[in-house]
Amino acid sequence: DCQFLISPSIIAGDMANLENEVKRAALARADFIHLDVMDGVFVPNKTFDHEKIKQLRSITPIPFDTHLMITEPVKHVKNYVDAGSDIITVHVEVCDESSFGEIHDVLRSNDVSVGLAINPDTELPSWSEKFIPGLDQLIIMSVIPGKSGQKYIEPIHEKTQRISKFLTERGFEGLIEADGGVDLNNIESCFSDGARIFVGGSAIIGQKDVRATIVEFRKKLMH
Ligand code: DX5
Ligand code: ZN
Repeated sequence: DCQFLISPSIIAGDMANLENEVKRAALARADFIHLDVMDGVFVPNKTFDHEKIKQLRSITPIPFDTHLMITEPVKHVKNYVDAGSDIITVHVEVCDESSFGEIHDVLRSNDVSVGLAINPDTELPSWSEKFIPGLDQLIIMSVIPGKSGQKYIEPIHEKTQRISKFLTERGFEGLIEADGGVDLNNIESCFSDGARIFVGGSAIIGQKDVRATIVEFRKKLMH
């Protein structure tokens, strides 16, 4: 398959004018808009919460790809559903079978796509295996979460290949999302690893001409 999706991360832009960053991504015809929610606990930084997402929602119909880097996501997930997220991803490090089961059911019953994320040094926990066939996306972090502009951690290529194979064997029908340090030089490797959604912070939103940059990214994968 040659399907792939580009999900620009707006925190790589002007944090004081996220409305404008969403507009830039929308005018550039991004496939998704990646929204990095950080609570200052799961990661040291704070970004924005569901109130901000609600404000951004009216700007564009492009799907909102909400990445929750927060502790106890089960307590907050409904707020992010109500704010208009189309996909919500929570971290395995802050879930267990029961809380993720609850999150999964809330998302499914609200027609929101279900995502799990793993940090660079985390493996899929055994409790997550029963959810694999019903998962819409798995974010494999290729930087330590917390900020944009970091370098892709090279061993994540092998990890993605391994996990991609593992997921396929277990009936995964979703998409792997590469998040962190993805750029024009490594996107083809990320694609051959098995990733199909590509987050672009500094390499996309950090660029002057977002539209031309997304065209360049697409060219790398279309041949
Ligand atoms: C990292 C975030 C990423 C980040 C991506 O904590 O989850 O989405 O903003 O930015 P770049 O592409 O610059 O690494
Ligand atoms: Zn992210």
